[in-house]
Amino acid sequence: MTTPFIVGSNNESFNKALPASLDENRLPKHIAIIMDGNGRWAKIKKLPRAMGHSAGVDALKSTLRLCSDWGIKVLTVYAFSTENWSRPKEEVNFLMKLFESVLKKEIEYLNIEDVRINFLGDLDELPARLQDLINQAINLTRNNTGINFNVCTNYGGRRELVLAAKKLANRVAEGKLDPSLIDENLFEKELLTSNYVDPDLLIRTSGEKRLSNFLLWQLAYAEIHVTDTLWPDFNEESLRNALLDYQSRRRRFGGLDNAVKDQL
Ligand code: IPE
Ligand code: IPE
Ligand code: MG
Repeated sequence: MTTPFIVGSNNESFNKALPASLDENRLPKHIAIIMDGNGRWAKIKKLPRAMGHSAGVDALKSTLRLCSDWGIKVLTVYAFSTENWSRPKEEVNFLMKLFESVLKKEIEYLNIEDVRINFLGDLDELPARLQDLINQAINLTRNNTGINFNVCTNYGGRRELVLAAKKLANRVAEGKLDPSLIDENLFEKELLTSNYVDPDLLIRTSGEKRLSNFLLWQLAYAEIHVTDTLWPDFNEESLRNALLDYQSRRRRFGGLDNAVKDQL
C-alpha cells in the first residue's frame, strides 16, 4: 500500500474512479490550470492573503491526485508568474517559503505515487534553497512513468518565446543552423514544454477571462474553461464540470465539423 500525497480532508490511498458522466475516451491528455483567486478567498473569510495561498496548496494536491487517478497524462499549473515579483515583498517571500516547505514535505509521496515532477520557468532567479529542492525533486522523479506534473514557477510566456528565439539566433550566429530551416516544429523544440503535447484544456479559476502571460504558444488551440470558483474551493465537482464542459465542445482546429462537411 502506498502513502497518498493527499493530506487533510481526503486521505484515501485508493484510486478514485472516473465519474460515469465522463467519457474516458475523450479526456484531455494535457490540462493546464491558472490557479487564481487565493487572495479573494482569504478576503471573503477575513483571513490574511497568505492563508489563501496555503489553502490553494490543498486544492492543488487533490486536483493532481484526481488527474492522476482519472488518467490525465500531463498537468501543468501556473504557480508564480514573472509578473508576480511586483507583489509586496512579504507576499513574495511567503510564497517562496511555501513552495519550499510543500516540496520538502511532499516530494517523497509524489515519488511513491509515480508522479514525474518538472518546473518550468526562469528557475535561476528563485531563492537558492528552493532551486536545490527543485533539482532534487526533478532528479528523484525523472524516471517515473505516472502523470507528468509541471509547475510553472517564475514563468512568463513572452520570456519563454524570447528565450527560444535567442537560442535559435545563437545557433544561426554560430553557423550551426540555416535560418530558412526555422519552422513551427523547430521553434517548438526550444520551448520549455518541448516534451509534452500542447494542453487540450485550460482551466482558469476566479472568473478572470485572460491568459496573464501563460503558455502563449502552447494554448493556441486549447479549449478554455473559466469558472467563478476561487482556487482554494476547486474540488472534484469543479474538475468534473471542467471536463464535462470540455467534452461538450467541438474542436475544429480551423477546419469544419464533420456534420457540416456531410451537408456539402
Ligand atoms: C493566485 O491567487 C496565486 C498566485 C498568483 C501566486 P492570487 O494571489 O492572484 O489571488 P487573487 O487574484 O488576489 O484573488
Ligand atoms: C496569474 O494570476 C498567475 C498565477 C496564477 C500564478 P495573477 O493573479 O497574477 O494574474 P492577473 O494579475 O489577475 O492577471
Ligand atoms: Mg490573481
